[in-house]
Amino acid sequence: MFVVVGVTGGIAAYKTVSLVRLLVKAGHDVHVVPTDDALRFVGLPTWESLSRNPVTTSVHDDVASVRHVGLGQAADLVIVAPATANTLAAMAAGLASDLLGTTLLATTAPVVVAPAMHTEMWRHPATTHNMGVLRDRGVHVVGPADGVLTGGDSGPGRMSEPEEIVAAALALVERPRDLQGLSIVVSAGGTREPIDPVRYLGNRSSGRQGVAIARAAADRGADVTLVAAHLDADVRPDARVEVIAAGTAEELGRTMDAVSPGADVVIMAAAVADYSLASIAEGKLRKQDFPGALTLELVENRDIVAGLVERRRPGQTVVAFAAETVTGDEELRERARAKAIRKGVDLLAANAVGWTQGFEAVDNALTIVDGDGEVVATASGSKDDTAHALLDAVVAARLSGIG
Ligand code: CTP
Repeated sequence: MFVVVGVTGGIAAYKTVSLVRLLVKAGHDVHVVPTDDALRFVGLPTWESLSRNPVTTSVHDDVASVRHVGLGQAADLVIVAPATANTLAAMAAGLASDLLGTTLLATTAPVVVAPAMHTEMWRHPATTHNMGVLRDRGVHVVGPADGVLTGGDSGPGRMSEPEEIVAAALALVERPRDLQGLSIVVSAGGTREPIDPVRYLGNRSSGRQGVAIARAAADRGADVTLVAAHLDADVRPDARVEVIAAGTAEELGRTMDAVSPGADVVIMAAAVADYSLASIAEGKLRKQDFPGALTLELVENRDIVAGLVERRRPGQTVVAFAAETVTGDEELRERARAKAIRKGVDLLAANAVGWTQGFEAVDNALTIVDGDGEVVATASGSKDDTAHALLDAVVAARLSGIG
């Protein structure tokens, strides 16, 4: 495979030396495109000898072969590691000021970036915005990892390990297009049930897992609709996914009912409130009207997924989620089994949650059971990894004719 490795000016460039070695050892044709700044950390001869290909930073070398776009056009995969805050900003803006910039603009191959910078820079709103722009454009992001940074401070900002970056990047290109032609509806996030014009009852779901499932399904060729209930600000759906916002359980239910009939697969990853307010106050509730205590009357919401199962058409696969507070794996499996049978779904993905588990985390662990409650898969890792594991289970279920 023709792999372009962009290297930008950060100390983590020394780790990219092993990344290039890993790719070359695996038999890939590796072309390193450093920025001028990157060469202050690791010199050109190192990149040339490791990649066994000529290396330049300039758009003015080898003009006859139109090198400034040629590399991007030829690439099957582009990895930028380390990706500095400056490079990410340039990518978001589409700047073409050096060979890496032109290569990135000329490519239609998957692009993977491995950010590396100090925590403050990573958390700066400008970087957050740029990452959002890049993610929307379908750029895949690996890391950054949490750990000790140069200068001794620590936090998120360390470039991920070369093995991890290479595995994530190759998995993208080698991903099966096994959902090509299928239409998939995914719900994500958490509903909010209004109490009065300024308050609501909500839950801690960020929408990260559902959005990862939507992205993974798009990567595998599906037509994806995401019904999104209050995603966290940093959780951005992929540009290839059609997004419909739904705020309350009632809105989410109506939207799912409207979009699901035509779908081949429906995945209910949203955390839906089981209850909403019996009556929503017209004006803001005032403390002086409820001295000492306030009692809210809640009424049960309808079970959306149960309705979808009831109206499921032949060949449609319905998947539910269950976030459970449990004391161990066995209890999680038992809860998953009981809930899958009770709901009548084809698959159910259960994960353990708690005060410090499951929600804001980037990683997740899923136990996936079929409609009889038998465990068909377990998966742990990034929410992208677990998303693909769930889609593997969906594909397997459809092949075996369950769904
Ligand atoms: N769900 C739904 N409609 C609801 C509540 C939940 O469709 N009103 C879906 C969720 O999206 C999820 C699955 O049902 O896919 C399981 O949600 P959960 O809240 O765990 O299920 P409950 O039936 O409410 O069970 P529990 O008694 O554990 O709350």
